[in-house]
Amino acid sequence: MSGQAPKTRVVALISGRGSNLQAIVDQTQAGALPIELCAVISNRPDAGGLARAEAAGIATAVVDHTQYADRAAYDAALQATIDRFQPDLVLLAGFMRILTPEFVDHYAGRMMNIHPSLLPKYRGLHTHERALEAGEREHGATVHFVSAELDGGPAIIQARVLVEAGDTPDRLAARVLQQEHRIYPKAVEWFAQGRLRLTAEGLFLDTQELTTPVQYNETRELS
Ligand code: GRF
Repeated sequence: MSGQAPKTRVVALISGRGSNLQAIVDQTQAGALPIELCAVISNRPDAGGLARAEAAGIATAVVDHTQYADRAAYDAALQATIDRFQPDLVLLAGFMRILTPEFVDHYAGRMMNIHPSLLPKYRGLHTHERALEAGEREHGATVHFVSAELDGGPAIIQARVLVEAGDTPDRLAARVLQQEHRIYPKAVEWFAQGRLRLTAEGLFLDTQELTTPVQYNETRELS
């Protein structure tokens, strides 16, 4: 291990199937991400992503929200569980919980989320239905740092997907998800390489301030 920079310690939070988690696991196992996935934590005992983590030999924990009196008590327990793993970076990967400002503050500049829309459009749920109903010609996904405002933190990277004639929410969601699996590992890579920083001065990739997110589409090679 001599001469090697320590790997970025990552904890991922999930609520469901964990396909974004899997994309990050796959990239890590392929040697493309200089991270150590220390733990995967779910608020739901039945989340499919827990089995993916176990298969990859990653520690898992469940902090079941139904067992806590209120949001503050839940977030305090979740924070304690996360912090046992001393992460440099916390990833929300389909974690379907609204977070308290105290929790968000604790991980300021070191917690990311992926959201299935071209933020700031379509915060919240049912993004694919809403984009189709609005007659959008393009849709997509965004990786952003988490702020206290739901789906509102500084955006890092976006992938754009063209809406096709005859698209249903499920068809569109499937194409967006493919792009999610490209851009989330890329944002993690930049962070782990020390290239991405959120400071009081702003969001920076290398020396460039990101006033708008880096843009990808279905054909642009990631670099
Ligand atoms: C993804 O669409 C993500 O953008 C959203 O929740 C979904 C999670 O899917 N936040 P998965 O659990 O990663 O498969």
